[in-house]
Amino acid sequence: MFCNFDEIVNRKGTDSFKWDKAKDRFGRDDIIPMWIADTEFRTDQRIIDAIKTRAEHGVFGYTFRSKSYYDSIIKWIKNRYKWDVKNEWITFSPGIVPALSMCVTSFSHPGDKIITQTPVYPPFYSVVEHNGRKLIKNKLKIINNRYVIDFEDLNKKMRIKNTYFTSKLNDLECKFDSSIKMLFLCNPHNPTGRVWTREELLKIGEICLENNIIIVSDDIHSDIVYKDYKYIPIASLSKEIENITVTCISPGKTFNLTGLATSSIIIPNEKLREKFNRTLDTLELDGGNVFGTLTAEIAYTYGEKWVDNLLQYLEQNLNYLINFFNNNIPDIKPIKPEGTYLVWLDCSKLGLKGTELMDFFVNEAKIGVNPGFTFGVDAENFVRINIGCSIKQLEKALLSLETAVKKLKVD
Ligand SMILES: Cc1ncc(COP(=O)(O)O)c(C=O)c1O
Repeated sequence: MFCNFDEIVNRKGTDSFKWDKAKDRFGRDDIIPMWIADTEFRTDQRIIDAIKTRAEHGVFGYTFRSKSYYDSIIKWIKNRYKWDVKNEWITFSPGIVPALSMCVTSFSHPGDKIITQTPVYPPFYSVVEHNGRKLIKNKLKIINNRYVIDFEDLNKKMRIKNTYFTSKLNDLECKFDSSIKMLFLCNPHNPTGRVWTREELLKIGEICLENNIIIVSDDIHSDIVYKDYKYIPIASLSKEIENITVTCISPGKTFNLTGLATSSIIIPNEKLREKFNRTLDTLELDGGNVFGTLTAEIAYTYGEKWVDNLLQYLEQNLNYLINFFNNNIPDIKPIKPEGTYLVWLDCSKLGLKGTELMDFFVNEAKIGVNPGFTFGVDAENFVRINIGCSIKQLEKALLSLETAVKKLKVD
C-alpha cells in the first residue's frame, strides 16, 4: 500500500479555503495555514483512479445510491466499530453540518433548547441559533490537562423538566426548563480531541433516555483515533440508546474528501427517520453527487490500510508536536487529543487572549490557526491548530512559533 504523507502538494490556486482564503481570513497570505479542518494529504490512489475512470465516461446525469454503496458503509462500521447497521437506517446529507441543521428543524420547534458540551465546533451554535432554538451549554471541565464531562451539571440541566410536575417553579420557568429536546454530541470531540469512553457514553445515554432527549451524535472524526483510544458509536451501546440516536458519519475528514459533500446519517428509529427524510425531501437535498457517492464507496470498501497508515503518520506528528511544546515552548500547553488531527492549545501563559492572541499567531508567528473564542466564551486563551499535514510543514510552523514566543518574552 503506497501512501506518501510526506509529499508536499501545492493547493494554492485550487480554490482551497485553507490556502486561497488565507488573505481574506487573516489579512495576509504569507502564513502557514493550519486552520480549517481538512488535511494536506492526497487521498488514497484507488479513490483518485476511480474518479478518473468515471470522469472518462463523460456522462454525469442523475444517479442513485446503489446497494453496494450501502453495503460498503455497513461493512466499514461493522468491521471497525462492531455495530450492526441495517441498510434502511442509512439516509443521506450532503454534509454533516446540513444534517445537524435538518435534525434541529425535524426534531424540535422554534424556542426549544438543545444541549451540548462546550467549547465546541462553531456550527453547533449557528445551526441551533439560526433556526431560532437556544443552545444550552454543558461546559466541559479540565482535569489533569484532559477535558471531562460535567455530569452533575448535565444531570441538573436535563432533569429540571422533571421538577415541572413536582416543584413550585413558576409557570414561566416550567415552560422554559421543560424544553430541552436534543443533545448534540461530538465524538471524537472538536476541539478538545476527547474520544468519549464507554462509561461516559453510557451515562449520557442513560440521562437522555430518562429525560426523553434525542441524541444527535456528530461522529465525523470517528476514524481518526490514536492507538490507546477507541471510538464507540453511542448508538451501539444498547437497543434503547440506538432507538433515540441519530449518528452522523462521513469519509470526508478521514480520506480528505470534504469537497465532495457526501455523508451518511444513520437513524434506526423509523419515526425519527421519517421526520428527517421529510425535511431532506422538502429541501430537495437527497440527490447527492456522482463523485461523492463513488468515492465514499471506494473509500469504505478499500480504504482500511490507507487509514491505518494515515493514523500512524498523524500519531508521529502528534508526538512531535507534544515533545516540541514540552521542550521548546513550555508556555503553550497542548491538550493531547485522543482523536482528530486538531490540537487545542492552551496559551494562557502567554498573557494574550482573544484577538490579541490571534494577532500574535498571524502577524508574529505567521501561522493561521482557529481562534479559541469561536468555540465558546471560555476559550479566549486557546487556539486550535491542524496537524493534518506533512511533518515538514508542522516543523516549520512550530519553529516559527518558537521564535515568535521567544521574541514576545524579550519584548
Ligand atoms: C465536528 C465536525 N462536524 C462537522 C464538520 C463539517 O462537516 P461537513 O463538511 O460534512 O458539513 C466538521 C468540520 O470541521 C467538524 O469538525
